[in-house]
Amino acid sequence: MESLAVRPIGGYFPLTLVQGKEYYPELIRLNTSRNALEYILILKGYTKVYFPYYTCEVLLEPLIRLNIPYQFYKINPNLEPILDFEVGPTECLLYTNYFGLKDAVLKQLKATIGNLIIDNAQAFFSRPLPYSDTFYSCRKFFGVPDGAYLQINTDDRLILEKDHSADRVGHLTRSIDYGIEHSYADFITNELCLKDNDIKSMSLLTQALLRGINYKECRNKRIENFKYLNDQLFLVNELELFLPEGVAAMMYPLLLLKRDIRSKLIAKKIFVPTYWPNVLKWTGYKTYEHQLARYMVCLPVDHRYSLNDMEYIVNVIKKII
Ligand SMILES: Cc1ncc(COP(=O)(O)O)c(C=O)c1O
Repeated sequence: MESLAVRPIGGYFPLTLVQGKEYYPELIRLNTSRNALEYILILKGYTKVYFPYYTCEVLLEPLIRLNIPYQFYKINPNLEPILDFEVGPTECLLYTNYFGLKDAVLKQLKATIGNLIIDNAQAFFSRPLPYSDTFYSCRKFFGVPDGAYLQINTDDRLILEKDHSADRVGHLTRSIDYGIEHSYADFITNELCLKDNDIKSMSLLTQALLRGINYKECRNKRIENFKYLNDQLFLVNELELFLPEGVAAMMYPLLLLKRDIRSKLIAKKIFVPTYWPNVLKWTGYKTYEHQLARYMVCLPVDHRYSLNDMEYIVNVIKKII
């Protein structure tokens, strides 16, 4: 008689994770957000992409791979596109929802630019606008090795192989045992592993990790921490951008022109990333984008931190400036 049992019974216990719900169960699950961009470009067949100077260079990977021409565009001090060009009917504009703070402009852009691609890699909690092509990158907000979500305004789908992440979680597991600083080199190795990969669907491991997150708590923490930092720092912040409240932003962007506080913060073990080192290569010294990349420090507001931590950060900054 043929056995019906496919699933093994018994054996050792696998890792047990909380079986909750993903934040975007209805969206397409992919391995990285640069590949979500590639997914859109393949299905939409755009002939040219208007691409911000102020963004992460890995997003050029799909354009190079598909041999699609691109033209850089500038942003204004509100971090909105300077639209001194026309997006043709077979062309598209890629816009980054900077730090998750630009929800309001997305609707406007969507209404004026037919072929808009929204990069919500920095805006995990900003739900996609209906009928918009929008992608998310999970590890910018949570301890996962990879993973992206995509909403695409077409019923067409690519048939994809599934990714496997089991060999890329070393930095996440080791950080629990040894601390985050100890595993930083492994984190960088993982980032490099994500370069130039094929589009694949999200691994079961990443999906399982994403099911175990308490999204409500994570979102609320970000909102609370962001508000605290803004209340304390808005008077010194030279960013002209209006900072909305009640938004679960990725980070708190603090611009202090002509003052290098980044290295001083890092010396105090407040690790602030540079967004983005490639912008320093792509743009002239006097451009706004260059100034943002040079002087803006992005302070963490995520679920790892309490208001006490925010107070500590503010005190360190006030002593430095
Ligand atoms: C704004 C932005 N979009 C997209 C990406 C790419 O995300 P992923 O690594 O998931 O491809 C990055 C950087 O990694 C980014 O900073």
